Amino acid sequence: MQRVLHSLLVAIAVATWAAPTKPSKQPHLVFVLIDDMGFNDFYSSSDLSAAWPHVASMAAKDCVNLDQYYTQPICTPSRGAFITGRMPLRLGLQHGVINGAQDYGLPLDEVTLPDKLRSVGYRTYGVGKWHLGMYNNASTPTKRGFDHFYGYWNGYEDYWSHTVALGAGPSVEPVQNGYLDLHDDEALVRGKEGTYGPELFSQKALEFIADHKAHHADSPMFLYYPMQNVHDPLEAMDEDLNSTACKNVPNAERKLFCGMARSADRAIANLTAALTEAFGGDDVLVMISGDNGGNVNSAGNNCPDINKFCLRGHKATLWEGGIRNRALVCSKTMLPADKLGTTYSKGMVHLMDMHATLEELGLAGHPTTGPPLDGKSIWSAITKDTPSPRTEFVVNIDPCSGHGSCNGVEAGIRSGDWKFMSGVNSETWYPVPSASRGTAASLTQASVETGDTWLFNVTHDPGETINLSDKYPDVVKSLKAKLAAASKEALAPCNVPNGTCNAENMAGWAAIKAADGWVPWIGTGRA
Ligand SMILES: *[C@@H]1O[C@H](CO)[C@@H](O)[C@H](O)[C@H]1NC(C)=O
Ligand SMILES: *[C@@H]1O[C@H](CO)[C@@H](O)[C@H](O)[C@H]1NC(C)=O
Ligand SMILES: *[C@@H]1O[C@H](CO)[C@@H](O)[C@H](O)[C@H]1NC(C)=O
Ligand SMILES: *[C@@H]1O[C@H](CO)[C@@H](O)[C@H](O)[C@H]1NC(C)=O
Ligand SMILES: *[C@@H]1O[C@H](CO)[C@@H](O)[C@H](O)[C@H]1NC(C)=O
Ligand SMILES: *[C@@H]1O[C@H](CO)[C@@H](O)[C@H](O)[C@H]1NC(C)=O
Repeated sequence: MQRVLHSLLVAIAVATWAAPTKPSKQPHLVFVLIDDMGFNDFYSSSDLSAAWPHVASMAAKDCVNLDQYYTQPICTPSRGAFITGRMPLRLGLQHGVINGAQDYGLPLDEVTLPDKLRSVGYRTYGVGKWHLGMYNNASTPTKRGFDHFYGYWNGYEDYWSHTVALGAGPSVEPVQNGYLDLHDDEALVRGKEGTYGPELFSQKALEFIADHKAHHADSPMFLYYPMQNVHDPLEAMDEDLNSTACKNVPNAERKLFCGMARSADRAIANLTAALTEAFGGDDVLVMISGDNGGNVNSAGNNCPDINKFCLRGHKATLWEGGIRNRALVCSKTMLPADKLGTTYSKGMVHLMDMHATLEELGLAGHPTTGPPLDGKSIWSAITKDTPSPRTEFVVNIDPCSGHGSCNGVEAGIRSGDWKFMSGVNSETWYPVPSASRGTAASLTQASVETGDTWLFNVTHDPGETINLSDKYPDVVKSLKAKLAAASKEALAPCNVPNGTCNAENMAGWAAIKAADGWVPWIGTGRA
């Protein structure tokens, strides 16, 4: 009786309340992060769109495109922001990236998205690049919420040998003296030399989906897929280089980049086909995002049109070219039909908001287990096309700008139409690489400004060309005050020059040499 009554109530509730956009059970959640893909490097690129045929057709059929999408300027902070939904300055990750055998990572008291999803029944899988710490076992992916993680723990590696040299940052060891960084959960994987990394990871993603379907069909799946492409080294497969999409790209480095983009597109095609096959009738949400601006020294680009619409700066800078990026939110069943193939342009969305959105959909009313988020769910905004809850964010506050030296605080904030920066060096605009230009190194610095504080109306001036500081002193004052308040929230970074985790740990080098591969080197460490 009890049961019958319950079923009846459920049936009535479902009939009455089930809105078409609301998942009736926990959706499968997939997050694809494309490494070092710049603002002009995705399917909408002015020169490389042909490399993304599958993503282009998926975007037109199944996705909402985010117009004003933002990330952090570099890898480790972006990954920290996504996996915790919190500002990197709270995480001690506001300065640089984890470089080889440095003794730090994502603080161990942070709760990750897979931690949270696992607590409500998800099986959690990761494939690709980690870059959130490996100095101790506790920092590695399977201890940070993943049931399984297949991939590498450094920030990049060779696409064919799957190795990373010691001292690749402060160049001490010969760079070719690389050590294997390919892990299946905790174990080093040998014997994959010669297989292109993205193919390996694509294959593994498909295996995870098939395995989940076969053994855990009753549980929802979370798949985090931080790709190796299109980060340097510039290494591509012949079949991609010879494709119609890439073979005529005039610049040799940009052509390699094109091949890497095409490989990512293929992997996404295989991924979505596998998801449809495995989970046909279920709700599946796929998000695809860049992680930071394009690296102009490695053929990335943030400049669709040098005369009309070109972001200033590049990866690792606080300029729009470092942080404005591309993202798609895709689902065949969860998005309203009239939103499919459209662009959401009612405000900003930050990478941290992707965490909050996935958390809202996955936890579906369960209480969260983590500390307060800086991210805000955009689900309601993009499904109803209402203004974004994201109206402001701290771009970064790095107490110690510069490389190998401390040149003072570098800070930036986006707020409404405005962007304010201080302690930031001038940057130029980098056009799409032409036949004759190999890398950005051969470009001359176009701008002549010498000051280091800037105010732009980014809505009006997305290329950050007109410094409005003197016209709006009150705006400058109020944004400075917001930055000062935010800096009080900071956890001091330990990887600044003379910081406790800045130098690579030689015990780490010894452990890695002894294991002939990248392994954790200290039993306990700074949390
Ligand atoms: C992806 O799909 C293509 C066919 O479109 C296939 O040739 C390729 O081997 C697949 N890659 C992987 C890793 O499964
Ligand atoms: C790609 O083209 C190069 C030269 O243009 C050729 O040597 C190579 O065999 C081709 N590879 C494939 C997979 O078609
Ligand atoms: C680091 O410490 C050395 C010696 O203690 C000092 O000379 C140097 O200025 C410090 N560097 C920074 C960036 O603080
Ligand atoms: C921007 O304008 C302000 C106010 O005039 C000035 O102090 C600052 O130096 C300018 N920035 C640059 C880089 O010229
Ligand atoms: C910024 O530019 C936009 C677009 O031109 C304009 O609508 C807005 O009023 C400007 N904002 C401010 C605060 O001037
Ligand atoms: C990490 O865990 C493995 C497997 O349990 C163990 O063999 C290894 O000693 C640990 N490493 C460190 C540095 O604690």
